[in-house]
Amino acid sequence: MRGIVTIDGPSASGKSSVARRVALALGVPYLSSGLLYRAAALLALRAGVDPGDEKGLLALLETFRVRLLPKPEGNRVVAEGASGQEDLTPHLHTPEVDRVVSLVARHPGVRAWVNARLKEVPPPFVAEGRDMGTAVFPEAPHKFYLTASPEVRARRRTLERPQDYGEVLRELIRRDELDRAQSAPAPEAIVIDTSGMALEEVVARVLSHLQD
Ligand code: DC
Repeated sequence: MRGIVTIDGPSASGKSSVARRVALALGVPYLSSGLLYRAAALLALRAGVDPGDEKGLLALLETFRVRLLPKPEGNRVVAEGASGQEDLTPHLHTPEVDRVVSLVARHPGVRAWVNARLKEVPPPFVAEGRDMGTAVFPEAPHKFYLTASPEVRARRRTLERPQDYGEVLRELIRRDELDRAQSAPAPEAIVIDTSGMALEEVVARVLSHLQD
């Protein structure tokens, strides 16, 4: 395969797992854009920068060199700052980061910062996120959009978080609302509702479209 495959969709729609497996089957890397938003949120939390303060966030991000490393077994994010280099990956999927990441991600300057990091990676690759097929790689020849009901997504996410189902569902619905602006599917994207599907079925469906 040459070029770019985009897989967008709301949180816990299965994007990351599907993107990783599709990329593996194609023999190309995958890029998880949400990790870069999560890294920006984590750095802001640690530095005590208000997630609503775009100027403060951009000034903070300038003091680090942040890179997304597209490893086949899972993406990693490393940050190099005044106190050396750190792998941020283990700290990115926490309830604290979940809570502020949408607020950080709504700033155009932060979105431009993430998109610049993504564009540092040479194609071919599979990119997953919210706006990969619309804003970041509109030229991609293959676009997918995964959906699933909030209940199914909350059930999946509860397996990965210390919170209970009710709290995860409330947070997820709140985040859907905050992320709505950048979460519309590209008009030409193939939409797959993964609610009743196993991961392998979704992967097979995506791959079947790529062979057409
Ligand atoms: O996919 P995720 O849950 O790891 O994404 C974390 C947050 O980052 C999500 O709440 C919205 C934001 N995000 C975004 O705005 N645009 C993207 N392309 C990817 C993620």
